[in-house]
Amino acid sequence: MGKVKMVICIGSSCFARGNAENVKVTEEFLEKHGLADEVDIELSGGLCTGNCPDGPVVTVNDKVYKHVEKGVMLDILKSCFPDK
Ligand code: FES
Repeated sequence: MGKVKMVICIGSSCFARGNAENVKVTEEFLEKHGLADEVDIELSGGLCTGNCPDGPVVTVNDKVYKHVEKGVMLDILKSCFPDK
């Protein structure tokens, strides 16, 4: 399996509405489980996907997740790494 490719939108809308926290949650999760090398994380401000009203937006392997609150972010991470 290739690396998980995760894009966390840090356009101003998403950043203010939860992705600032989601970046932290993600980094902590990856560090805690020694997964930092398994995920390509891109923090994307320029690629605002036009989904601001549905933000915060996180994309994992081209699947777009909307309204990603902290708990949802953790669920996404766990679904990427079910054995963690
Ligand atoms: S700022 Fe994230 S979709 Fe626009």
